[in-house]
Amino acid sequence: MPSTLAIITIALAIVYGILYAVLYATQSNSEPRLIPTTIPFLDSAIGIARHKVDYLVSLRRRYGLPIHTLRMPFQRIYVINAPQLIQVVQSKTNLSTFVPTLLDFGMLFSGLNRTSKDTLTKAYGAHGNGFTKSVHRYLASGLDLHAATRTAVEKLTVGIRCGFAGQGQVGLYDALRHQLCLALTGAIYGAENPYDDPAVEASWLEFVPGISHLLYSPFPSLTAHKALKARARVIKAFQNYFETGSHMQAFAMIPEMFNTNANHGLPPSEAAKLEMATSLAMLSSGAISAFWLMFHIASDPDVLRTCREELLNLVVKEADTPSGKAKVVDLSNIRTQCSTLTAMWHETLRYHSTVINIKKVQHNITLVSEYSLKKGAIVMIPGTAVHHDTNIWGPSASEFDHKRFFTPAGRKNLSNTAAYRPFGAGTTMCPGRHFSTSVVLSLVAMVLLQFDIEPVQGQWQMPTKKNADMWNAMPKPDQDVPVNVRRRVDKDASDTEWKLVWGATTGEKE
Ligand code: HEM
Ligand SMILES: *[C@@H]1O[C@H](CO)[C@@H](O)[C@H](O)[C@H]1NC(C)=O
Ligand SMILES: *[C@@H]1O[C@H](CO)[C@@H](O)[C@H](O)[C@H]1NC(C)=O
Ligand SMILES: *[C@@H]1O[C@H](CO)[C@@H](O)[C@H](O)[C@H]1NC(C)=O
Ligand SMILES: *[C@@H]1O[C@H](CO)[C@@H](O)[C@H](O)[C@H]1NC(C)=O
Repeated sequence: MPSTLAIITIALAIVYGILYAVLYATQSNSEPRLIPTTIPFLDSAIGIARHKVDYLVSLRRRYGLPIHTLRMPFQRIYVINAPQLIQVVQSKTNLSTFVPTLLDFGMLFSGLNRTSKDTLTKAYGAHGNGFTKSVHRYLASGLDLHAATRTAVEKLTVGIRCGFAGQGQVGLYDALRHQLCLALTGAIYGAENPYDDPAVEASWLEFVPGISHLLYSPFPSLTAHKALKARARVIKAFQNYFETGSHMQAFAMIPEMFNTNANHGLPPSEAAKLEMATSLAMLSSGAISAFWLMFHIASDPDVLRTCREELLNLVVKEADTPSGKAKVVDLSNIRTQCSTLTAMWHETLRYHSTVINIKKVQHNITLVSEYSLKKGAIVMIPGTAVHHDTNIWGPSASEFDHKRFFTPAGRKNLSNTAAYRPFGAGTTMCPGRHFSTSVVLSLVAMVLLQFDIEPVQGQWQMPTKKNADMWNAMPKPDQDVPVNVRRRVDKDASDTEWKLVWGATTGEKE
């Protein structure tokens, strides 16, 4: 008599056989190669759930394919690793074939209701990222960008002076995150910035872990209950912000986006939800990048000394202050005068970036006359796999090399977005990249000049980043690093007063 176990085993074997047959029957030979599978339709999902971006990196290492297919239940994903193919997919001429899914992502986690989603899809759907047009326009370059950066740097100066000194022990990530939050949102949302209210900032922090649930959980209203309540509080604050006309005092892109959306038919209560997307873009990666940059500098005594020496290049003059004299430091020259700090920034982004670009294939197409891609499939470009590819970056691809971008030859590689892509690429490339680079580098410069930072543990230990959210372009450390912050006692710096400005020569008022 066959045992129950034998029957179950046979049944499983049959199901397995059927799934296997279905998998190969529905996979065409002309499609990108299928990675060998052990559990049809499920092993990729399990791999991604368990190892996140690292799963895609390990496939790249193991198989070395320029492009390959991953099958999930009801979804096929083409993962692209080769720079030549990346270039083709992100080219402007192919934008209507590979449409970014950012609007879907934004609509998913911001909680817009059905009516608003339909409105926005109708208004922007074909372009995928039309709703960010104002951000691109105002933050690309020029006077508006300069003004926003200047405001953010002013906020940082005040915040660091009051917030860092005399606090003793702090979490390095949290301390930097808080300062950047106030500076970035202050510069963008203006005098009535909702995040100036600590309760709103706290609610935002409570909301962020819920985003993964909104993306991947079947019942986010159950599994992310607290996070969604926190989001509602932030939205309420923004609704009030718009209804009282506070956005009229904001950086010009905010009222412009509000008016554009209002013209499409979005009421203030719904426009407030869309600010969750702007806030997320602004608050998700900058602080994490600042943390890793600070960590790599502070934990390497030689680099720390060099960075501080370079910062002295920024002193443009002396100014009188009520208590004596101050050295005026023009932070807008960091990128030309501080090669090590700037190289560290680029390397921090390259080394840690977890960016994944996601696009949807709009119609059947044969890529470079070789790979047929099916309509409705997802194209994924895992930046991490590209950034750690030894074919692109040489044998040291997976090491942190603070001098990689130090020389002009090294810097040249920064402009190739098929190889270096922490900010994405193409039409959806992060419009906040100049703004965030300037503000983060200013923050780090201010801290380095004025404070000594030492790990409470005695030794710097790099935190893990296993639990980092897959949607985030940068990986949050799993644990914060407790540090002691003291005013610098360095013999050259102890009696120096710094006046930190952005663009001293152009609109300095004495
Ligand atoms: C170090 C900090 C930052 C990093 C690493 C980063 C990275 C990225 C990445 C990878 C994308 C997606 C690009 C693509 O799909 O090709 C993106 C999009 C975007 N980022 Fe950033 N970002 C940062 C800071 C900021 C800041 C401070 C702002 C706003 C002030 C901002 C605004 C945006 C917006 C609006 C988009 C959507 C662009 C579009 O699709 O049209 N980002 N960012
Ligand atoms: C969405 O919200 C707006 C404003 O509150 C409202 O007019 C509209 O009826 C709502 N739509 C749905 C489907 O709930
Ligand atoms: C796309 O190709 C598949 C076969 O690979 C075919 O079944 C489908 O009809 C095609 N779709 C369009 C819109 O041509
Ligand atoms: C657009 O995609 C097609 C199909 O693969 C490719 O032949 C073409 O070179 C791409 N265009 C650009 C500018 O890369
Ligand atoms: C720039 O990238 C190329 C390959 O794309 C690599 O061989 C070279 O070493 C890089 N240059 C520097 C200075 O890192």
